[in-house]
Formats: sequence, C-alpha cells, structure tokens
Amino acid sequence: MPPGRKTGSAAARRPRIAVLGAGGFIGSHLVPRLCDRFGATVDAVDVTFDKLAEGLPGVTRVWASITDAGLLEEITLRADIVISLTALCNPALYNTRPLEVIDASYTDLVPLVELCAQRSRWLVHLSTCEVYGLCALTADGRPARRMDEERSALCLGPIHRERWTYAAAKQLLERVIWAYGRHHGLPFTIVRPFNVIGPRMDFIPGVDGEGTPRVLAAFMHALLMGEDLVLVDGGRQRRSFLYVDELVDAIVRILERPKLCQGQVLNLGNDRNDVSIRELAQALSTAYRALRPHARRSRMRKRTAEEFYGPGYDDSDVRIPSMTKARRLLQWRPRMPLADMLPLIVADYLGRYESRLADSARSGARPQVP
Ligand code: UGA
Repeated sequence: MPPGRKTGSAAARRPRIAVLGAGGFIGSHLVPRLCDRFGATVDAVDVTFDKLAEGLPGVTRVWASITDAGLLEEITLRADIVISLTALCNPALYNTRPLEVIDASYTDLVPLVELCAQRSRWLVHLSTCEVYGLCALTADGRPARRMDEERSALCLGPIHRERWTYAAAKQLLERVIWAYGRHHGLPFTIVRPFNVIGPRMDFIPGVDGEGTPRVLAAFMHALLMGEDLVLVDGGRQRRSFLYVDELVDAIVRILERPKLCQGQVLNLGNDRNDVSIRELAQALSTAYRALRPHARRSRMRKRTAEEFYGPGYDDSDVRIPSMTKARRLLQWRPRMPLADMLPLIVADYLGRYESRLADSARSGARPQVP
C-alpha cells in the first residue's frame, strides 16, 4: 500500500492520488489500475479525456491545464501522491516548437516540484530515457552498452541540434527534483520510461491530431491508409520497446514500495525488445496483414532525417536500458515480446480508426498524411 500523509490513517488505506495528464496514453492505462489496486481516490487532471474510460469508481475528472491559476495549489493540497505525466513528448515538436516543449517539460512543472516539497507530497515524475541523449556512456564518458541510472554520463548534442530541447528540459527538471529531495526533504521518484507502446498511443493525423506522431502511430497511420512507411535514415536506429501494461505494473510496484523507491531514479524499459526501426516496420506490417489480409499493401520508403523532421533534428542510434535497479527494487521483469504486443496494438487502432478513416475517404475529406 502506498503511504497516506500519516501512516495508519484513513488516507494510508485509501490514498488520494493526483494524476496530471490522466487523459493521455499512459494516464488512460494507469488510472484504472490505481483504482483497482489501491482503491485510490484519484484526481484525474487533463484538458481532454477521450482516452480515459468513463465512470471509474473514485475518479474525479478535473478539466484543467496545469498552468491554470491555482490548479497546482488545489491539487497538491488534497493529494498524498502526485504522478506527473504531462509533456509534449513528440520528437517532431522538439525542433519546431522548442519553447513550448521546454515550458511543458520544465517551466510549467517547477511550481509543482516546489509545492510538493512544501507540502511533503510524494512526487512520482515521469521523465524520459531521452535524458541519456545520443548514446550510452560510462561515468567518464566512454561508450557503454546500456543506459544506467547510477553510472551513465548524459550526452546531448550541440545547441543548434534542437532535438535535445526536450531532453535538456527534462534533465534540468530531474536535477531540480533531486535538489529539492536532497536539500529540502521532497519525497520523490523519477521514472525514465523507454519507448513505451500500446493501445491508445498518440493520434492519427487528420482524425484526432495534427502533425507527425511517434513512430508506432506514424506506421499505423501509413498501414491504415495504404501509404508508405517512412524509414528515417533507413530505419537503422534501434529502440527497446516496453508494453504499456508492464510500465503500469512497474509504477504500481513503485507505489507499493515507498521506502525503497523514494529518492530514486529508475529506468523502466524492456531490453529484450531491442530492435531496429526497420524491424519494427516489418513486424507491424506482418501483424497488420494478419488481421487485414486484403488491405492495400504498404511499402517502405527511406527519407533523410532533415527531409522528415526539418533542420535541427538529431537522433540516438541505440537505446537499451540497464534493468538492474528496477529488478532489484521492484522485483519487476517485463516479459511481453514485440510479437505478442503488436497484434493487440493493431487491433486497437483498427477498432478506433478504421471506420472513421473509411468515412472520411467516402466523404472525400482525405485525412492528412504526415
Ligand atoms: C521518443 C520521444 O522523445 C519521447 O516520447 C520519449 O521520451 C521516448 O522517445 C520514448 O518513447 O520513450 P523517439 O524514440 O526518437 O523519442 O521517438 P519516435 O518518434 O518513436 O521515433 C523512433 C525512431 O523512429 C526515430 O529514430 C525516428 O527517426 C524513427 N521514425 C519515426 C521513423 O523511422 N519513421 C517515422 O515515421 C517516425
């Protein structure tokens, strides 16, 4: 059980948890589990709730932005635990709307950290594997295979590579959280998710969002439209994909272990699912064809990063988490292989988008292609 404000109090038995960004991809998976597992009372804060199930017991929907005057004061006054998920976490924005990315990842969240410190609320902050930057390094900057919370030096590209605005802002917020923890008693846990994917991720351009979503939704969009899957720089970059339910398992385990997990930075990823983006494209196409054997065949097309994202983009070639700390603290080991998760994800996208795309094709309002 996660702690309430006073051990043994009613709050300890039925914690009050504020989830900021509850209506997004991860929030929509996490909030129901918080209700199931802890019987928690949840303040679910977001500006949209399309992805979150209706009628969850104990959940109050708070339609608000974290930048609304007084919102964070009100939320931190009530909550025992605050889980912060809000961000602009889409690489297509990092070099095109960098100031908004920095505000969403840093400026807007500093007041939250201050309030949690003043009121001794446990802040569980979802940061990102992007803080490791270009590549895995040892503490003294030599190449390493895995990204490690305790040892890795963090390596961002030069300033004109605006790709790193997000990582720099996220890293600075981690440092602020750490400083409040070490010097001002803030109970905190920093989580670094590694390429979490699953149902309800991102958006389909022209249907429920605009622009370029992250790779999984970009490929799903292409498959649903019978368009080319674009492999940026040939798709040789590698990512380790974690299924969203397993991320949620790990967050639940964190909340069950306040003594072990407070004051910690934790990678949450799946090192067994380290694949190239080309391999992801092939596996997703296979999963799609299994459910829609007669659909128009998509092909793969190479584009340079500059063509696809514009100037200032940059990339990490390989991103493999060290799993040691999460395994030790949480007894958590994710098991879902890519081949098992992709059919579930494809089925979800088909259920949510196929008829909407067909309707707009019939009416001639063809959705925009990224
Ligand atoms: C993401 C985001 O920065 C964050 O959401 C997050 O913190 C983290 O990584 C994560 O998901 O955990 P990245 O993995 O680069 O960054 O984002 P994707 O858009 O999913 O791209 C993955 C790779 O696929 C990149 O190398 C990209 O160039 C490539 N890509 C993307 C394509 O080849 N084709 C596309 O259509 C889109």
